[in-house]
Amino acid sequence: MIPFYTTDFGNPSSAHPFGWRAKQATEASRSEVASLIGASPREIVFTSGATEANNLALRGLLERVSDPHNRGHLITGVTEHPAVLDVCDTLELQGVDVTRLPVDAHGQIDAGQLRDSLRPDTFLVSLMAANNEIGTLHPLAEIGSILSDHPALWHCDAAQAAGKIPIDVKALGIDLLSISAHKLYGPKGQGALYVSRRRPAIRLAPLQEGGGQERGIRSGTLNVPGIVGLGTACELAASEMQGEAERLQRLRDRLVSHLTTNLPQLRINGHPEQRLPGCVSICFDGVDGRDLLLQLQQDVALSAGAACASGHAGPSHVLASVGLSDEQAASTLRFGLGRGTTTQQIDTVAERVVEVCTRVSALAS
Ligand SMILES: Cc1ncc(COP(=O)(O)O)c(C=O)c1O
Repeated sequence: MIPFYTTDFGNPSSAHPFGWRAKQATEASRSEVASLIGASPREIVFTSGATEANNLALRGLLERVSDPHNRGHLITGVTEHPAVLDVCDTLELQGVDVTRLPVDAHGQIDAGQLRDSLRPDTFLVSLMAANNEIGTLHPLAEIGSILSDHPALWHCDAAQAAGKIPIDVKALGIDLLSISAHKLYGPKGQGALYVSRRRPAIRLAPLQEGGGQERGIRSGTLNVPGIVGLGTACELAASEMQGEAERLQRLRDRLVSHLTTNLPQLRINGHPEQRLPGCVSICFDGVDGRDLLLQLQQDVALSAGAACASGHAGPSHVLASVGLSDEQAASTLRFGLGRGTTTQQIDTVAERVVEVCTRVSALAS
C-alpha cells in the first residue's frame, strides 16, 4: 500500500502514466477479490466497507426493481448485522414488506421456513454467511438451492466469512455479496460488493452520483492504497485459508476444553460445527460479563459483543434471538482468534479467564 500513498500517487481515472499505474494496481486487486469468491473481476464494485456494500445492495436494488405501487417483499434474518437490519427497517417505512426469519438455538434459520416465506413479489433475500457475534454459518447450500428456482435475488453479507471459509458465489447461487477488508487483515474503510452479471446482469441504483467510477454504481475517486490492501489481503487469505482454519480450530478447541474443564457453568453459544473457526462466544452463567471484562481487559483484548456495535447499550439482538435471557447475554464474552494468535496466548488467556471467573463468582456468592 505504501507506494500508492507516496510515489505512485496517480488517480486511476487519469489518462497518463501515473494514472495507468494506479489503474493497473486497482484492476489487479479487483481480480484478487473476484478470485477469492469465484466471481469475475467485472462483478466487483469497490466500496468503503461492508456497511456501504450492504446499503448499496439493498437500497440500490429496491430503486431498480420495485413498482412504486407495490414495493414488494424482502426476507432477512433476525441475527443480521445492523447494516442490514436497520436498512430493512427504513425500507419497511418506505412500503416494503419485510419478513425477518427467526433462528434456532444455534443461530441458524430454517431452510423450510425460508421456502414457505417466499412470495411471488419477493425481490430479495438478505441472509448472511457467518454471524459476527456467535460465528454460526447459515445453511448456505440449502439457501442457494431454494432460491435457484425463485426469481428473488440473494444478497449475502459475507463480512465475517470471506477469506475464512471457502465461498463460491456461482456454486452457491449468490447474486450480491458484501466484503469488508479489515475482517481479513486488510485496511479499515475498504470493502467490496459483488454484483452478479449472470441472470440477467443486476443493475443497482447508486447511493452516490458523480464522476461515474465503478461503472456508475459507486462514483468517487477510488481509494487506491485501500484497494491494493484489500487485494493483497484476499490473495493471502486464499492461499492460507485451509491451513489457518485448521490451526484456529485446534486453538479454539484447546481454549474451550480448558475452560469447560475448569468452569462447569459454561455455555458455548452458536452452532457446534457449522461455525467460523476463529469466533467463540461463551456465556459464563451467573457471572457479570462486565466484571470479567474489567478484570481481563488490561492484558486480554476481549469484547462483550460486536465491536462494530460497541457504542450500543442493551443486550445483543443476536444473543436474544438464540434464546439467551438478558442476564445470560450480560454474562457473555466473545473471544476472537486470528492469524496472530498463538498456542501460548491461548493457554495464558484460558488460565487468566479461569482465575478471574473463579474470583468474580466467589465474590458474587
Ligand atoms: C457481519 C458484518 N456485516 C457488516 C459489517 C460492517 O462492516 P464495515 O465495518 O466494513 O462497514 C460488519 C462489521 O463488523 C460485520 O461483522
